[in-house]
Amino acid sequence: LSLSLSLSKMATAVPLVSQLSPETPLHAPKLTSLKSLAESGALTSIPSNYAYSTNPNELVGSDPEDTIPVIDFSLLTSGDSDQRSKIIQELGKACEEWGFFMLINHGVPECLMKAVMDGCAEFFNQTEEEKREFEGKHMWDPIRFGTSLNPKKDKVFFWRDFLKLLVHPEFHFPHKPTGFSEVAFEYCKRTRKLARDLLKAISESLGLEECYIEKTMDLDSSYQVFNTNLYPLCPQPELAIGLPAHADYALITFLTQNEIGGLQVKHNGEWFDVNVLPNAILVNTADHLEILSNGKYKSIMHRAVVNNKATRVSLAVSNGPSLDTIVSPAPKLVNSESHPPAYAPIKFKKSLELLFGPSKH
Ligand code: OGA
Ligand code: NI
Repeated sequence: LSLSLSLSKMATAVPLVSQLSPETPLHAPKLTSLKSLAESGALTSIPSNYAYSTNPNELVGSDPEDTIPVIDFSLLTSGDSDQRSKIIQELGKACEEWGFFMLINHGVPECLMKAVMDGCAEFFNQTEEEKREFEGKHMWDPIRFGTSLNPKKDKVFFWRDFLKLLVHPEFHFPHKPTGFSEVAFEYCKRTRKLARDLLKAISESLGLEECYIEKTMDLDSSYQVFNTNLYPLCPQPELAIGLPAHADYALITFLTQNEIGGLQVKHNGEWFDVNVLPNAILVNTADHLEILSNGKYKSIMHRAVVNNKATRVSLAVSNGPSLDTIVSPAPKLVNSESHPPAYAPIKFKKSLELLFGPSKH
């Protein structure tokens, strides 16, 4: 389903797409995770409700010269201003041409990243009964374990289980497995700081004041969501999909995974397999940065495919403005003749309601 956030009269509607449809409450009393189905034994073919057809004309790109840019974060903070402006230029180019880049030397300790990824895997490894305690009943529940997207409504199921947690401005987290919440708290704090620093550089790359995004997006109360996905082995990976093509809704997303690939990114009309460098964080620009940049930095389509070799665990940490922020194109990037506003202002909370349905608050 596509969601158009463009309400402006003069604007050409630019569809901002997400895989998320407005949903009704999830209240399956006995939700079975895909993990238990996939591991239940002799599953040699996928159940028919998982059969997903991708467009056969959409080949996966293979140009070895054309790969996702790498940004060395340490060069942004090294204090050398020439170097900083050079990296800011590269960053702007990465946002404009790919909307995805690998961040290296980002300062988040390797052992912390590993501990968080291990915690995600351990969470999914708990029994059905243990996980059921965290099952989401409503799209806005701050703790929500589930499978597919919404098994009550989905016509085609996605080959994944997920755990979605609201971690800022309030930190909500399952109390099991032991120690997971503590390492995740630290990881969320570090990645919020990283998001802030990157958004400073991104502001500059757009020709805005360094603190423009931080201030206008009210990042002190940024809406941060911790999304972890488990993609079990799939007996017929070419017939199923882990997560269909979508764009992310917030400002920027940080993605990490357990060494197993599966992410594909749309670039110049083709799907590209993403091979993330070890310990790098994959960053992508999302819908509300597209609005703020007046369409200069697009929110890029991506999807997760599955495999029959190894279970994949991914973690996407989504960093948004505060719920009450009204997001609109930066006035400096709008010019009535050459660059008319392509998006009408929208409150972040309202955008989320269009995706997830009315909030309970
Ligand atoms: C997401 C996402 C990709 C992946 O959770 O929004 O795009 O590889 N995940 O799991
Ligand atoms: Ni995504």
